[in-house]
Amino acid sequence: MNKLSLTVLLGSLALAAPALAADPAAGEKGFNKCKACHTVTLADGTVAVKGGKTGPDLGGVIGRPVASVADFKYGDSILAVGATGAVWDEASLATYAADPTAWLKEKTGDDAAKSKMTFKLAAGGEDIAAWLATQK
Ligand code: HEC
Repeated sequence: MNKLSLTVLLGSLALAAPALAADPAAGEKGFNKCKACHTVTLADGTVAVKGGKTGPDLGGVIGRPVASVADFKYGDSILAVGATGAVWDEASLATYAADPTAWLKEKTGDDAAKSKMTFKLAAGGEDIAAWLATQK
């Protein structure tokens, strides 16, 4: 194989990798599990998913500082993580959704940390995170 075709091959592998890792279309369906407690409002005010208000709005959550929706009453543990300047990315959101309390214990280093989110996602957090990344 010459150098050019190797470069092309590596380039297309790099493009294909994220698509293989997470599926936003599957994530949009998966978000049905979150909808009872979370609404998704886009920056222009459009309500992309009209859901519950038990949890904070998740519009634009990827890239947003942890626990930063002004009018939402967060629990102390997630506020402590937010105070460190942590920002949601797809990987952290997927890990959080699988077990919010375990994620808070790890991030705060406090075994008594607790989450107000009582739901645990069995599978598909990466897909939901990839879909949320498109909801800005
Ligand atoms: C039973 C209600 C409920 C369900 C279902 C639920 N959540 Fe939550 N979620 C909450 C609550 C309440 C909080 C606030 C947690 C706190 O203050 O400790 C929260 C917080 C969050 C946060 C932190 C947001 C921020 O502003 O920092 C993310 C991210 C999140 N949820 C994602 C999800 C995803 C993804 C799903 C579906 C897989 C989901 N949640 C399902 C109730 C829920």
